[in-house]
Amino acid sequence: MPLRLVQLSDIHLLQSPEGRVMGVETEETIHRVLDAVAEEVPEPDLVVATGDLAHDEVRPTYARIRDLLGERGYLGRCRLVPGNHDSPALLREVFPELYDGPADSACFAHRLDGWTVLGLDSHCPGELGGRIGPAQLDWLRERLEDTDSPTLLFLHHPPGPIGTPWLDGMAVLDPGSLVEVLAAAPQLRGVFCGHVHQDTTVRVGDVPLVTTPSTCFQFQPRSAEPAFGNHAPGFRVIELEGDAFTTRVVRVGEPVAAIPPV
Ligand SMILES: [Fe+2]
Repeated sequence: MPLRLVQLSDIHLLQSPEGRVMGVETEETIHRVLDAVAEEVPEPDLVVATGDLAHDEVRPTYARIRDLLGERGYLGRCRLVPGNHDSPALLREVFPELYDGPADSACFAHRLDGWTVLGLDSHCPGELGGRIGPAQLDWLRERLEDTDSPTLLFLHHPPGPIGTPWLDGMAVLDPGSLVEVLAAAPQLRGVFCGHVHQDTTVRVGDVPLVTTPSTCFQFQPRSAEPAFGNHAPGFRVIELEGDAFTTRVVRVGEPVAAIPPV
């Protein structure tokens, strides 16, 4: 039986359950997605959410995310990394048990049977793009040197272009050192990101760089200008067997009608 992970991304929840982001009721879409997760993967070994959990970066929204994960039985088996729309400090306050990286960052190292699962905090105050500071890079290097077990890395911003030009300008803004650290880790099997609200697989060094749909609105792959995609909300399933993984995206229901900002 493989180990099964679920990746959720870009929930964009608001304090008000009726709140809308780009015209989309993100409370409705996350419940829609979580209902589908419960059918597809009734007992996930781990649920990882890759950022933009809250759209408004306020404590009550994180409390609502905690409640929502608790209602589904995921609190003891989830890990969360922040996105550009998140507050790493509030995440650490509301989920103090999840983080064990350097101070002032919300990152984690988790052992899962014979695997290592790592999460980085790429949030950079005031920027849409991401950065991984020197403290986290040292921490990551040490974690990767500590183990030869197969490893997955999760972070919000892709550490390289995915082929959608307007989003590639707001990926990890200084990817060089991170890519160097990853290249020195032969046990690394894959890097999983959010941020781009689409399902894409490219490469970073020798491993797949995989991006995952948002649980709400989607962006159009390969678009030069900001554009919404017409795919339904979704989530990713990652199955670990031996020292390899397989993965697939599950789309849920109909596409949502997103409205561009004026
Ligand atoms: Fe997002």
